[in-house]
Amino acid sequence: MLTSDREVFVCHSHQLREGETLLIDIRFNGLLESSVVLRHQERAYAYLNRCVHMNKRLDCEHTQLYDRNLELLRCSMHGLVFDPANGDCVSEICEGKRLCALKLAESDGRIRFRDKRISSV
Ligand code: FES
Repeated sequence: MLTSDREVFVCHSHQLREGETLLIDIRFNGLLESSVVLRHQERAYAYLNRCVHMNKRLDCEHTQLYDRNLELLRCSMHGLVFDPANGDCVSEICEGKRLCALKLAESDGRIRFRDKRISSV
């Protein structure tokens, strides 16, 4: 899974289509964690898989994390919604909070984490 000293391979670009999410196990600051990688308006984004509401995994109840219109991410626990492009919570109850964004790079048909806090599991 390791691509280089600074990069961790996620998937090939064709494996992440518009409106899809992937759950990828990572080591984040040395701790085992889960991440959510998604494609939104053709661009790939990644976030730590931790809801800002109760620190649950976004997929703790089910893995359908996009809303019906593929416009917002929705936590499966209580339904708070997030802007896929920046992780901002757009539900009133947690307004002003945001998901922890993880740095990604996509080129040559490959998506990689490029984030010093991340190493492969
Ligand atoms: S834990 Fe995510 S909405 Fe409550």
